[in-house]
Amino acid sequence: MNAFAALPEREMEFAFSAADHRAIADLIYAESGILLPDTKAKLIYGRLARRLRACGLSTFPDYLALVASDAGERARAVDALTTNHTAFFRENHHFEHFRESLWPGFAERLASGGRVRVWSAACSSGEEPYSLMMTILGTDTRAADKLARQDFRVLATDLSPSVIATARAGRYPLDTTRAMPAAMRSAWCRRVGEMDELSPALREPIAFRELNLLRKWPMRRPFDVIFCRNVMIYFDEPTKAQLLARFADQLVDGGILYIGHAERIPPEVAARFHCIGRTAFQKVS
Ligand SMILES: C[S@@+](CC[C@H](N)C(=O)[O-])C[C@H]1O[C@@H](n2cnc3c(N)ncnc32)[C@H](O)[C@@H]1O
Repeated sequence: MNAFAALPEREMEFAFSAADHRAIADLIYAESGILLPDTKAKLIYGRLARRLRACGLSTFPDYLALVASDAGERARAVDALTTNHTAFFRENHHFEHFRESLWPGFAERLASGGRVRVWSAACSSGEEPYSLMMTILGTDTRAADKLARQDFRVLATDLSPSVIATARAGRYPLDTTRAMPAAMRSAWCRRVGEMDELSPALREPIAFRELNLLRKWPMRRPFDVIFCRNVMIYFDEPTKAQLLARFADQLVDGGILYIGHAERIPPEVAARFHCIGRTAFQKVS
């Protein structure tokens, strides 16, 4: 079968050919590294049909011509095609590892005036960095004031502007916050209509920024810990290897990298990390 199979035309509002699929897949790969093989035809169609309607267009070739000339619409197309699934305390073993193995040393360093930096790379709508903050603070809301006076910061980035806006707002549907342990939820969430709003104290140490992992990174100083979970599954092997080599460069010696449960360190960069736990790695000095 053709690698890029078109969808059957019956009952479709817009024709979607194999050539349209290939052109969109090439564009998204070039912009974000995300692979969109033939199994994603329905997803592409479903998400971009909305953009065609919003732009008042009636064919995919017209939409492709628009994204070729309009950087704003190109960014909206990439945004529409990212998969942003996440959850509070997803793959909780990483947060447990952080609390038990890393935080005691970091807390000591911070207490003596030192600095600690964590990067949540591809943070989606923010559940990952907020889970980290709750891991550190537990249910002690006063500990947040103390931490705010110390040199501790979390950088949380994602390619998608829409998820970064959600993360910054810190408001989540009740279904989403139900994944938090009950005591954490009552310590850090305030009900606002049909949503839970996270306390500003929890949000304070986190800087949310739009950042494409494939482009230049503006950060100059290294990180103690990088979370990059459940994004490399969308990338091909060369992209994964390049990204992991850049993470190694961006970590302090002995710094820690957490990756997603279905992700692996490719052989090209294996010498730069050693495994210290379940999908947890330490940069080799
Ligand atoms: C499935 S979510 C993972 C969120 C979180 N890390 C977790 O494990 O729950 C993947 C995220 O990667 C982001 N992403 C995809 N390609 C990216 C790129 N090239 N640069 C930065 N973020 C990217 C998507 O926008 C999406 O929010």
